[in-house]
Amino acid sequence: MVYFLTFTAPSLYGDEVTALRPARSADIDEIVDRVVRARRRHADGAEDSIDVGALRREMNDSLADISVLTNSTGLVGHLRGTILEGGSFGRALWMSPDGFSCNSAEDLLALVEGCRPSWIEAGATAAYVWAPLIDATTWEEVGFQRVHARGVRVRGGDHPADSFPEGYRARRASLDDLDIALSLDHAQTASDPQTDGLPPGPVDEEWRETLEDPDSSYVIVEYHGIAVGHAVAFPLSAHTGSTQSRLHLSGVVILPEHRGRGVGRAMVRAVLDAAAAQDDTQVEVNWDTHNEVAQNFWRALGFRETHLRLRRVLN
Ligand SMILES: CC(C)(COP(=O)(O)OP(=O)(O)OC[C@H]1O[C@@H](n2cnc3c(N)ncnc32)[C@H](O)[C@@H]1OP(=O)(O)O)[C@@H](O)C(=O)NCCC(=O)NCCS
Repeated sequence: MVYFLTFTAPSLYGDEVTALRPARSADIDEIVDRVVRARRRHADGAEDSIDVGALRREMNDSLADISVLTNSTGLVGHLRGTILEGGSFGRALWMSPDGFSCNSAEDLLALVEGCRPSWIEAGATAAYVWAPLIDATTWEEVGFQRVHARGVRVRGGDHPADSFPEGYRARRASLDDLDIALSLDHAQTASDPQTDGLPPGPVDEEWRETLEDPDSSYVIVEYHGIAVGHAVAFPLSAHTGSTQSRLHLSGVVILPEHRGRGVGRAMVRAVLDAAAAQDDTQVEVNWDTHNEVAQNFWRALGFRETHLRLRRVLN
């Protein structure tokens, strides 16, 4: 990827010329400093666990994916985007919370507009970023739209009332229950169509892989012996140079006729109890930002939004 672009961005001191170029090894220390400083501003509970050495190695290994923006004072921003071919997301450009820094929305615009032609050339149809909540509006200013939210809380600290109403019980389930997992998943897709325009993904294969993983905890809720809901929890390995390992909650669904009775709340407790993890382990879950019920549910269960996934269609 060869490019050299200049932008003129307004600033308090008059017009400031910025230039975009591929990152060099000599930029890495400054990029890492910027990422660490940005992380400290974000209250996602992980700021003490940054492994700076690992972050530096990761940046060095992905140098070809990083672009930097400079002005007369030096480096004013960076973007690190990786093209991934991924299930329901198609071929897309992905940026993690550590994948960008900027001093202003103008700088971010210069970075995005400067990199966009090379993303399109590489076949990406959309760009996604997981941005800390406080940066979300800056991404919206450069044409990205919210699609998913990430909420986090610690594993322990459940509500005393998180027990099943009469007639319901949870059982640990496994790959032997794949048919039930798929039928609950399909029932959910039928009753709660995705609202953000993403095509349905290869869920069957994903469920098989998840249930085959010995580290996954899978719980089915039954009402008088009939499966009416399920949830899965699995550990995410520590993001390099980033957060400690976390539990990820996924596939949380209660069939429509059993909703609103406290079954979902009790099921989340059951699946977290089933997961082998310390009580202070961070648990995260992602939901569609258009799904107000899910948002209310996760907030009621103590999850606090830390990040948003935003998307810009590339054309
Ligand atoms: C989200 C879902 C699992 C909730 O299950 P549920 O059994 O109905 O939830 P509960 O009855 O345990 O509700 C727990 C809390 O969530 C909130 N909540 C649940 N449904 C709600 C609704 N329709 N409107 C507003 N808040 C709601 C309430 O605060 C509730 O607490 P309260 O009853 O003490 O006020 C269920 O609606 C569902 O399967 N939805 C479709 C799939 C989905 O969106 N899953 C989440 C994917 S991230």
